[in-house]
Amino acid sequence: MATPIFTMNILNIISSPRKEASASIKLADGIIDKLQAAHPGSSVVVRDLATNPFPHLEEAKLNALFTPAEARTPEQHAAAKHSDDAIREIMDADVIVIGAPLYNFGIPSTLKAWIDHIARAGITFQYTANGPEGLVAGKKVYVAMASGGIYSEGPSAGYDFVAPYLKAVLGFLGMTDVTVVRAEGLAIPGVQDNAVQKGLDSVTIAA
Ligand SMILES: Cc1cc2nc3c(=O)[nH]c(=O)nc-3n(C[C@H](O)[C@H](O)[C@H](O)COP(=O)(O)O)c2cc1C
Repeated sequence: MATPIFTMNILNIISSPRKEASASIKLADGIIDKLQAAHPGSSVVVRDLATNPFPHLEEAKLNALFTPAEARTPEQHAAAKHSDDAIREIMDADVIVIGAPLYNFGIPSTLKAWIDHIARAGITFQYTANGPEGLVAGKKVYVAMASGGIYSEGPSAGYDFVAPYLKAVLGFLGMTDVTVVRAEGLAIPGVQDNAVQKGLDSVTIAA
């Protein structure tokens, strides 16, 4: 009997500002192509944090996020909009593909600002008698990492804070099925030319 094919809602988070030159965007696009080949008809929503950055959490925004929706003023609704929109996009997605350049051993601040907007007590996580519980269930996440150096092995392996951080914070929110795909060594002659393809070749998508 033929395997049933189902369509998926894919959310693509971009955080590199380098457009066509970006390795994390190329890698994420390649992953999305594979997802769409395995699941024809799947849709893609793109959230480009480099072109349209989320703001930092200043005082008015924090106050809005900690005010229950029914008690917010119109100004507070406006202040909470980035967060509400980002959380809606995540909840609507089956698969989330996050492009993550490695900047100074961490993630770009644009990606961190997005994370600060999706981590909301009572909405994406909650505290229970048994400890914290993530409320974003049933998602598959791919992190399309790009780095000048090599961090999957060798002397710099302990300096990659991107993969462990993203796994920790996404897992805290309930997104525990995270696959990290690397285009690495992009600053290393002899490695850089095949780095994106090598990362992509490591990805197999279940039909
Ligand atoms: C501001 C900045 C900081 C960077 N810091 C690091 C770093 O700490 N380690 C590293 O291996 N590469 C670092 N790089 C190189 C990037 O990881 C590399 O250029 C990668 O391809 C960027 O992703 P993108 O091609 O999607 O823009 C840095 C690049 C920039 C622009």
